[in-house]
Amino acid sequence: MTFSIEVRRAPDPSRLADEVREGLTRTPVEIPPKWFYDDKGSQLFDDITELPEYYPTRTEQAILDAHASELPQVGTLVELGAGYSRKTKALLESVRPSLFVPLDVAEEPIHDAAVRITRDFPEIEVRGVVADFEDELAPLPGTDGDRMVAFLGSTIGNLTPEPRREFLRRVFRATAPGDLFLLGADLVKDVDRLVRAYDDSAGVTAAFNKNVLHVLSRELDTDLDPDAFDHVAVWNAEDERIEMRLRARRDLTVRLLGLEWRIAAGEEILTETSAKFRVDGIRAELADAGFSVVTTWTDPAEDFSLTLARRL
Ligand SMILES: C[S@@+](CC[C@H](N)C(=O)[O-])C[C@H]1O[C@@H](n2cnc3c(N)ncnc32)[C@H](O)[C@@H]1O
Repeated sequence: MTFSIEVRRAPDPSRLADEVREGLTRTPVEIPPKWFYDDKGSQLFDDITELPEYYPTRTEQAILDAHASELPQVGTLVELGAGYSRKTKALLESVRPSLFVPLDVAEEPIHDAAVRITRDFPEIEVRGVVADFEDELAPLPGTDGDRMVAFLGSTIGNLTPEPRREFLRRVFRATAPGDLFLLGADLVKDVDRLVRAYDDSAGVTAAFNKNVLHVLSRELDTDLDPDAFDHVAVWNAEDERIEMRLRARRDLTVRLLGLEWRIAAGEEILTETSAKFRVDGIRAELADAGFSVVTTWTDPAEDFSLTLARRL
């Protein structure tokens, strides 16, 4: 079977400019995490998933390996924020869809996954979609009531509570009664382990974090110097989330989007929040968005969760 890739909305510089302009009005200044993922950033994230400190990928994979066979079979599997879809093999083997739809803001990993999956599962049609999951998700391919939407990797944690509620409502609107939603969510745990997962000893996460500044300096009219910032990962106990930030090494005056942006030494830009969840909380958020929770699986240490829900 061949594959196709539909570009609904490429991550274009004008959208980057709009989102950076908006982020500059916040305190601290924010750059949305979707802009990490150019080809280099996607590759760096893939490298992160292999790091000894980064437990989420291998833990979610182990949960999938243990429980994917309990999932119902459906005609269409949609994966949001799919990246390279490396964990999806276990899902495809059990769910046996005839159509697989990886959706991501980054095209290169979708293309890589489409080639691999078409080769490994010749009976499955792969229809990649380049889109922003912060836009309306409908129409999703497939037959109503015969879809599963998977959102793995705890990418849900990159959304703060209100955008997360809006995202879950968008998934609700894009699906039909009877469709399934499979959600991977990282759980609250020992703070040292959490921080190390976002500040590894080999410096890969630091390179990933700084990559967003390389994206800005390439795509926008700016004299921003990525090397003027340090990677920082901190636990925000009140909001139960890891925050990745970029801290200015010295006083800076940056020309950006026609503005003069003054940054004091030590000032930080917030580049990613990764909320950590409690099982009851994630189930309540799903119920609030109109899903009926079927079950939640965790690993024995309760580091990570995978919740299956049905759209009402
Ligand atoms: C943390 S990675 C997870 C990748 C993969 N699902 C996994 O479990 O390893 C987040 C993925 O979501 C994608 N992504 C981030 N923001 C997005 C957005 N707003 N719309 C679509 N994809 C997005 C990134 O390109 C990346 O592939």
